[in-house]
Amino acid sequence: MTAGIVTVSYIAATILFILALGGLANPETARRGNWYGITGMAIALIATVVGVVTEHYAILLVALLIGGSIGLLAAKRVQMTQMPELVAILHSLVGVAAVAVGFANFMDHSVHFEGVELTIHDIETYLGILIGAVTFSGSVIAFGKLSGRIGGSPMLLPARHWMNLILLIGAIWYGYEFVQQSAAGTGMMPLIIMTVIALLFGIHMVMAIGGADMPVVVSMLNSYSGWAAAATGFMLNNDLLIVTGALVGSSGAILSYIMCRAMNRKFLNVIAGGFGTGGGTAAAGGGEQDGEVVPIDAQETASLLANAKEVMIVPGYGMAVAQAQHVVHEITTVLRDKKINVRFGIHPVAGRMPGHMNVLLAEAKVPYDIVFEMDEVNDDFPNVDVSVIIGANDIVNPSAQEEPDSPIAGMPVLEVWKGKTTIVLKRSMATGYAGVQNPLFFKDNTRMLFGDAKDSLDAVFKAL
Ligand code: TAP
Repeated sequence: MTAGIVTVSYIAATILFILALGGLANPETARRGNWYGITGMAIALIATVVGVVTEHYAILLVALLIGGSIGLLAAKRVQMTQMPELVAILHSLVGVAAVAVGFANFMDHSVHFEGVELTIHDIETYLGILIGAVTFSGSVIAFGKLSGRIGGSPMLLPARHWMNLILLIGAIWYGYEFVQQSAAGTGMMPLIIMTVIALLFGIHMVMAIGGADMPVVVSMLNSYSGWAAAATGFMLNNDLLIVTGALVGSSGAILSYIMCRAMNRKFLNVIAGGFGTGGGTAAAGGGEQDGEVVPIDAQETASLLANAKEVMIVPGYGMAVAQAQHVVHEITTVLRDKKINVRFGIHPVAGRMPGHMNVLLAEAKVPYDIVFEMDEVNDDFPNVDVSVIIGANDIVNPSAQEEPDSPIAGMPVLEVWKGKTTIVLKRSMATGYAGVQNPLFFKDNTRMLFGDAKDSLDAVFKAL
């Protein structure tokens, strides 16, 4: 394959990656977006394997087979609710690849640089390893926290900000040392010391972050992994890797910003750490009850729904756990056949990953035109006869607006309590992800339908 064909293939892959990002921005075009991405990646891989690599094909083939099989197996086995963990562990691989390429690049003496070129090359290598090592250790800790292998509470060491500052100064100092020594033909020692510093920094940074902020951290690590890939692209002189890395880096940064806004958190506060208990059980902070709750059964729920004109369904993490999306669709169909206006209100951070609810509802074939963003329906609740809250908690918690001291104070929430009747489906009085009790459950117009969301909805469907 000539260099010209490789370049054209790389441009085609770049365009497909941009189209993929555009497609993934909307549930209706997401499937097409995925196909653009898959095609772009296939073109990129083939062009690189056939056109750029010139020797060691056997090793390459073995690596492709091992990597490909592990990826295929992991993707087939992963549950929807474990997706953030999978994403975190995959980011760690990008990080470790950047570190490995950085060291290999430094030790490769086949290409000689001098003067300014050498300095630029050294800085690329240094930054690539630095970002890669932070991404690697940070992502491993994020994986540990998300999968419950490491506790979700933030680890807040005394003087932790000073410690971060010292690590940062250390990284800059050893960078200077590395560039100086590299000119004299050495430099391995400062490179190794910096790698250790970066690994420690990644661990410390993510350990300090509480469970409720983990999604932002995963998205931030996604961004880092992009910049690590871009740095690798500079080291390897590969334009496609630079562009793709920059696309991942910038889209991850934008997603982190959007998520911070949806949770009313400042990005710097997230990084500074200390929020969120990572609970999800009644034992988590703020779990005590304050008032009476009124239970309801499936029969009464069905009758309230059948007599309503306006129904709003608010799904949350519990719908994903119960895998209740299909019966939700069946109930929606029955109600719509009765000329009842059924809509879905989706909070931007409902569930455990961006777009989590949209993916589940799309999987169950709920029509897109009745699925709305929070901002599109939040003013409508006074006109809603029955709101059905399926395994959602934090995203419908009025204390975000009413209690300035609440850990979720200021987070935008769906104002379901303004509707005529609210039915909450959950198994117990346990708190949600942020570990805070929800006064919604104790309101006069709230009814609690206790039990696994799928079992409860199956019974409601039968009664309907
Ligand atoms: P949560 O506040 O976590 O509440 C989920 C509720 O579902 C729990 O109170 C739980 O109560 C219930 N539940 C669990 N399994 C159930 C089942 N099988 N059947 C019925 N109910 C079940 O969820 P949310 O309202 O979706 O809010 C999301 C939270 O996660 C926010 O705090 C958000 O910041 C955070 N977060 C978001 C993301 C993204 S990007 N979406 C990622 C990570 C974290 P029981 O145990 O009593 O059943």
